[in-house]
Amino acid sequence: MKTDLFFSNPTEVESECLVAVVLDRGEKDKTEAYVASSEKALQDAAAEVISSGEVSSKSFETTLLHHPAKLKAKRLLLLGGGKAKKFSVSELRKLAGAATRTLKSRSLRSFAFLAPDTIKLEDAVRAIVEGAFIGNFDPDTYKSDRKDQKIDALTIVARGDQGALLKAMEEARVIGESQNFTRELVNEPSNRMTPSVLADHARRMSQQVGLKCEVYGADKIKELKMGAFWGVAQGSDEPPALIVMRYEPAGAPDKPVLGLVGKGVTFDTGGISIKPADGMEKMKYDMAGGATMIGAMRAIALLKPKVKVIGIVCATENMPSGKAQKPGDIQTAMSGKTIEIINTDAEGRLVLADGLCYARQLGCTHLIDAATLTGAVVVALGYANAGVFANDDAMYEQFGKALNRAGEKMWRLPLDDEYKEQIRSNIADIMNTGGRWGGAITAAMFLKEFAEDTPWIHLDIAGTAWMEDSKPWIAKGPSGIALRSLVEFAKEFGDKH
Ligand code: BES
Ligand code: MN
Ligand code: ZN
Repeated sequence: MKTDLFFSNPTEVESECLVAVVLDRGEKDKTEAYVASSEKALQDAAAEVISSGEVSSKSFETTLLHHPAKLKAKRLLLLGGGKAKKFSVSELRKLAGAATRTLKSRSLRSFAFLAPDTIKLEDAVRAIVEGAFIGNFDPDTYKSDRKDQKIDALTIVARGDQGALLKAMEEARVIGESQNFTRELVNEPSNRMTPSVLADHARRMSQQVGLKCEVYGADKIKELKMGAFWGVAQGSDEPPALIVMRYEPAGAPDKPVLGLVGKGVTFDTGGISIKPADGMEKMKYDMAGGATMIGAMRAIALLKPKVKVIGIVCATENMPSGKAQKPGDIQTAMSGKTIEIINTDAEGRLVLADGLCYARQLGCTHLIDAATLTGAVVVALGYANAGVFANDDAMYEQFGKALNRAGEKMWRLPLDDEYKEQIRSNIADIMNTGGRWGGAITAAMFLKEFAEDTPWIHLDIAGTAWMEDSKPWIAKGPSGIALRSLVEFAKEFGDKH
């Protein structure tokens, strides 16, 4: 999707459709809808339908007018945004997605979106561009009758500092494209997205944006003594891949180095502790954490924060076979810790244990991992919030700010020492499951053992990486959650140090 800015009067924009946000400035129960623009001509164009009560300011409600008076645009789409007082950048991002989805389903290929005057223009431009990219993605790649309805061109109508707005637009475009790149990887089924294929995508992307990328196979994994990662990989006929992407901008200080570690399980059958058949097809998205890191590295390479970043993806299948690890087996992780395998379906923490250890060995001073790690996080938080864990309050605070800027929702869960009891093993240093209660927490406690004293954040995206239903602003399917926050974090991290 091409994006450009239109800096003059919105009445002058020549477009298939101009989208304007309708807000409600009524107090309490009263409603008083108005177009969120100071432009008189726009108020006039919408006056009749608004005063007739046909248009509501309810979120995502749409009214399409043809040949609007006094506008050069062929159509005017009035898009409800709810109460003016509650209207935020996050809402605007969603509205832009909703406009994109509504208009592309009506076979339009381009439109213009008027930045509402209630939000700082730079933030508005970012939100509109990001939201439009998110809305433009559909997961129907393999439908023979795929209509491939896409918006090809978006114009943002905003009158302000041209340089700053152009920069905002370009940055948001990088983020939107990267998020969709991640979603494309996640959407692929496991027969077409094996660890090797995932690694090829990482390599190709790296070449395009100027990242160093190394891909290692089983030999290197064994040489590094990654017994936890290999324990999972050994059961599959598909070779595993240890993907390492490096962003080393000229002039960046030696420290800090941010490590982004992703779970790249391209299919999770559960292994010998096999999962039930019902819903198992969804386990193709068990590499979403890894795909998020690949997409985040792309965005970071293009946005160029002044900080070194290393992206690591531990990619493998989790399969039952004659070579597969079995409950009761003991594996020695790269760090030297021994792990009693209680359930081979708790494989994500195993591959990440060695990924985190390797990141530390490569010199990362701060770590963030992302993983579709536990069903338990879905029990705890449902689909609206991802789980976030941190062993360092300062780092968490910084991450919280990134979350806000990115408009992503995550909720912090605890990592108290009490929970460690649950993963104590009789015969090894640690077990890979912690029983029924607090499963998302005990999984995180397991990872904490491998982050050791390095400031670390863990994102459990099992409930949020895949949209169970479509929303007005986003299709059902891969969401690309966490990418925007990771990129915002890296940007801020570069500025701070
Ligand atoms: N990949 C799953 C977690 C998952 C569940 C992701 C639902 C997305 C949706 C993970 O590897 C897993 O199987 N976890 C087990 C852990 C248990 C055996 C301790 C789980 O959550 O049941
Ligand atoms: Mn599993
Ligand atoms: Zn898994």
